[in-house]
Amino acid sequence: MAVDMKGKDLVSIYDLSSEEVWQIIRTSELMKLRQKAGLAERPLNGKTLAMIFHKPSTRTRVSFEVGMWQLGGTALYLSASDLQLRRGETIADTARTLSRYVDGIMIRTYAHEDVVELARWADVPVINGLTDYLHPCQALTDIFTIYEKRGRLQGVKLVYVGDGNNMANALLHAGAKVGMDVVVATPAGHEPDARVLDEARTDARRTGASISVLNDPREAVRGADVIYTDVWASMGQEAEEAERRRLFRPFQVNRELLEAAGRTDVLFMHCLPAHRGDEVTDEVVDGPHSVVFDQAENRLHVQKAILALVM
Ligand code: CP
Ligand code: NVA
Repeated sequence: MAVDMKGKDLVSIYDLSSEEVWQIIRTSELMKLRQKAGLAERPLNGKTLAMIFHKPSTRTRVSFEVGMWQLGGTALYLSASDLQLRRGETIADTARTLSRYVDGIMIRTYAHEDVVELARWADVPVINGLTDYLHPCQALTDIFTIYEKRGRLQGVKLVYVGDGNNMANALLHAGAKVGMDVVVATPAGHEPDARVLDEARTDARRTGASISVLNDPREAVRGADVIYTDVWASMGQEAEEAERRRLFRPFQVNRELLEAAGRTDVLFMHCLPAHRGDEVTDEVVDGPHSVVFDQAENRLHVQKAILALVM
C-alpha cells in the first residue's frame, strides 16, 4: 500500500520507514521506465526547488535541476557565498524566508546540524544533498541500482572499503532498512560513526540485515555481491590528503581486491567523483564489473521519485 510522504523531509535515511524506502525504490523504477518510454509527466508543474550549495557538485546539482524540469517545475541554484547566510543571516531566518517563495529546499553543506536546523524551521520539505555526516540521496540511489542489477536486496552483501565517511554512514542506514548484509572495512580509527552503527543495528534486528565493521579489506570482500568505495579525503579534508593517501593505500580497490571477492559477477560501485589511482584503479573503474555511470544516471530517476513523493 502506498505511504503518504507529502511534506516529509529527507535529512537522514534513518528517519524513513522501510516501507518509505521501498516506495522510493518502486517510484524510481516507474520514473525511469516512463522517461525511457518518452512519457512526460508534470506532477510538479509550477513548483520550485531551491538548491543551496556550500560545496561543489556535478551530479547532485545537474540531476536535481534536470529532474525538476522534467517534472514540470523549476530549480534555483543558490551558491551559499551569494546568500545573506554568508553575512550572518541565521539558518532559521533563511528557512522561513525561502519557505515563502519555494516548495522545497535541497541543501549541500558541511555541518549536518545545519540541515537539521533548516528542516526544523522550513515549512517546506528539506532534502539533504550531502553533509559531512550523510549522503542519503546517493545511498538511496545505490540500493536502487543494486536492486536493478540483482533483482533483490534482502541478503545482498555490500562491502564498503575505505574511509568511514558520509557515504559509508548513509549506506549503513540504507542497507539496514532493506535487509542487506553490509560490511565496512576501514583502517583502525576511521570506522563509521558510532551512532550510525547503533541506528543501523537497530533497524537490522527488524529487517534481518547484518552489519559488520572490519579492518581487513581482503577478509571483508569475500563473497561480496558489491564492492563500494569512495574518496579517501572528502570535501573539506583536502589538507589531510597526503597523509590519508599513505594510510589508506592497503584499502585501494584494484583487480586483486576485486578477485578476492571470489565471484565473477561482483559489482564495483563508487558515488563519484573518483580519485583514480588512489581509492580505485582505472582498470576497475573502467572495467566490466563497474556500474558507476548507472549509479550516476540513477541519481536523476531516484531524486525525481523523492521530489514527486515529498513536494
Ligand atoms: N556523487 C555526488 O554527489 O556527486 P557530486 O559531488 O558531483 O554531486
Ligand atoms: N565523501 C565524498 C562524497 C562526494 C560525493 C565527499 O564528501 O566529498
